[in-house]
Amino acid sequence: MINVTPISELNSAFQSAYGYPAEAVSIAPGRVNLIGEHTDYNDGFVLPCALEFNTRILFKKRNDTTINVRSMSYLDESEQFDHSQDLIPGDLHWGNYIRAVVFVLKREGHQLSGFDMLIDSNVPQGSGLSSSAALEVALGGLFNHADNLSLSLSEIAVFGQKAENDFIDCQCGIMDQLISACGQANNALMLDCRSLETQAVAIPNDLNVVIVNSNYPRKLADSEYNVRRIDCENAARIMGVKMLRDASMELLFEHKDQLSLNEFKRAKHVITENQRVLDAVKALQNNNLESLSELMRASHHSMQHDFEITVPAIDGLVEICSNALGKSGGARMTGGGFGGAVVCLCREQDLAKLIKAVEDNYHQQFSLTADIYVCNAGNGLKIEAL
Ligand code: GLA
Repeated sequence: MINVTPISELNSAFQSAYGYPAEAVSIAPGRVNLIGEHTDYNDGFVLPCALEFNTRILFKKRNDTTINVRSMSYLDESEQFDHSQDLIPGDLHWGNYIRAVVFVLKREGHQLSGFDMLIDSNVPQGSGLSSSAALEVALGGLFNHADNLSLSLSEIAVFGQKAENDFIDCQCGIMDQLISACGQANNALMLDCRSLETQAVAIPNDLNVVIVNSNYPRKLADSEYNVRRIDCENAARIMGVKMLRDASMELLFEHKDQLSLNEFKRAKHVITENQRVLDAVKALQNNNLESLSELMRASHHSMQHDFEITVPAIDGLVEICSNALGKSGGARMTGGGFGGAVVCLCREQDLAKLIKAVEDNYHQQFSLTADIYVCNAGNGLKIEAL
């Protein structure tokens, strides 16, 4: 189901583009978040796993300061810039992610070489599975390795996040980059987004992680995202805590009159969602699918009614999946919202029922066709010599 272009084929493409083969490849995955949405930038908890969908960047160091980049997804385009000059956004959307990572690394004083690069990715784009974080982490890993920057995995993740925050102007949290850097096969990771500590939580063998991509075009996602973040920060300030991580439902109700309705609802989502993540870790450790099912249902309900980041097609898709699985499986929207994908957890014997329910109902109700991926949790960033 996952298309992976053989590395030899990619290296031939690299050779045709640059006249010599690549020396190594940097590989970083997309992610799916099992639970804990919009908690990361509130210093809270999340429970994602890395996917086996990866962004791979083949590269070879140059002896100047030029960065040349080709992408297998945009064969008629190419990105090129000299990083000894001031970096400003260029014309290519994807090229700006390269500029962004170079910008933040250089701003911190790291000495970078020039590189020829070729990108190939099978992370579905625009579906909330973090294709951009995969690119940022693969790039950070590439520079770290080839220029001996001695960065830790979490430092590489933070550079990816800063690239988004300070160059792309998306005020995202740390979840996507941290799981892309640190992911472990067959495990979800509970991330403490304050300390950046990670705790591996094994995904039981008999539990399937299923991604149902709604293919609903994500609109307004970045601007609404930034507005949610401001509401959360305001709510924390009004309650007198550093971040919503530090607030309780008791404190929230004490301040209800001082908060706008939106601030109250956004904070309620974050406070309850943090607790759901902690509960979901226990449920996953105990392979308690009934409890996971309830937590995922409550998480989706909270995203729909309190954080207000879902759209009718996503709510409908979650309902189709939840109804098919009942108490023996869970379903919720995953990622930033306003479209994207739904994540389901279920047993093998319920897989066919789930797929049939999506095929029978989703297109009929929303005139869209979903893509369904049955996934394994994959590994995080790695560099391989070629
Ligand atoms: C996007 C952001 C993450 C996180 C999620 C919502 O994926 O990049 O930092 O905030 O949305 O949980």
